[in-house]
Order: sequence, then structure tokens, then C-alpha cells
Amino acid sequence: MKIVVAITGASGALYAQRLLDHLDPVEHQVHLILSSYAHQVLQEELPEGLRLREGVQTHSLKSMNAPFASGSSVCDAMVIIPCSMGTLGRIAHGHGSDLLLRTADVVLKENRKLILVPRETPISLIHVKNFELLLLAGATLIPANPHFYHRPQSIMDVVDTVVSRVLDHLPIPNTLSPRWRAEEE
Ligand SMILES: Cc1cc2nc3c(=O)[nH]c(=O)nc-3n(C[C@H](O)[C@H](O)[C@H](O)COP(=O)(O)O)c2cc1C
Repeated sequence: MKIVVAITGASGALYAQRLLDHLDPVEHQVHLILSSYAHQVLQEELPEGLRLREGVQTHSLKSMNAPFASGSSVCDAMVIIPCSMGTLGRIAHGHGSDLLLRTADVVLKENRKLILVPRETPISLIHVKNFELLLLAGATLIPANPHFYHRPQSIMDVVDTVVSRVLDHLPIPNTLSPRWRAEEE
């Protein structure tokens, strides 16, 4: 698969890190775009910097030269993780003014998989209306809401409960997080 991962200025850089850790650039084409505010949040949350596997292709936000900026060379899937309410709102309303927004717009219009991992609390009616628009347009929303029924032992275990659902929806088989009652199957 050709997968575009985008990181925005919402809290939750670890979600992006864990997803990138589990996308194999040998098996898939993995492309990365960062919003301008992503850099600030990454500095706060991952002071050692983002760890990238060899083969991950990074792209400038301000260049439309990436092939997947056009419907003629669309990617198979895009994951925006974590997704700020600002980026989510801009996508919901058809903005395409940088590579991240344009790619999301192309993915939607070409009926490919757009997965958003929104992170905000509490949420307003505006956010809910934007969620609704995106769901109607065919996007998949996987809010950064971890689960705890498998009694996670570390922050990574918690983060992986969300990342595992993202991989499920790409879909990429994974055993990142224990499944409910899996041991009884
Ligand atoms: C440390 C930090 C954490 C933030 N967390 C969130 C968040 O969880 N959700 C959100 O929607 N915005 C959050 N913001 C605000 C966004 O970064 C801001 O709205 C920015 O304009 C988003 O731009 P972008 O969508 O282009 O990345 C945070 C900002 C900072 C500095």
C-alpha cells in the first residue's frame, strides 16, 4: 500500500510515533507530512525527536510536488494522527492550501481511505458538525480514546490500544494490543 501519515499540532505525538514504528517501509510506501504546528508539539512531547524507519519519505508541507497531491496518483490511505480540530475543520470544509490538506481532499474525492485520529476535549458543536461532515464524506474517525480493559502496564500499552485500531482499519494485520477475550477463542 501507498500510505500517507500526517501529524498535526494536536497533543498525542506518541500515537504518530507508534504508528510509524509499525508501518514497514519495505512492505509499504510510507510518506510523512507534518503541519507547521506539529513541530512545536513534537518538541514538547518527543524531545528526542521523531524516530523514522529507513525508507520513510518525508514531504514539505508547502510543496505540491508530491505525486499523491493529484487524483491521478492518489495514495491508498491517509492517516492524520493526531488530528487537531483546526486541520479537521479545514478538511471538512474543503480547504486544500497545503500538501496535508490537499492530500486529504484528494483521498476523499477519490474514495480512498482517510483515517483521522482527532484529539480534543471537551468538544464543541462545531467539532461535532465537522465530524458529521467528514463521516458523510466517507472518512473514518478513530478518536484518540484508549481503552483500559486489558490493564495496560505502560504508556506505550495505552497508546497502542488506539494505534492497533488504526492499523485494523488500514487494514494491516497486527497484534499490537490484546483483543477482548482473545484468549478464550
Ligand atoms: C502543546 C500543545 C498541545 C495542543 N493540543 C491540541 C489538541 O489536543 N487538539 C487540538 O485540536 N489542538 C491542540 N493544540 C492547538 C493546535 O496546535 C493549534 O490549533 C494549531 O493551529 C493546529 O494547527 P494544525 O492543525 O495545522 O496542526 C495544541 C497546541 C499545543 C502547543
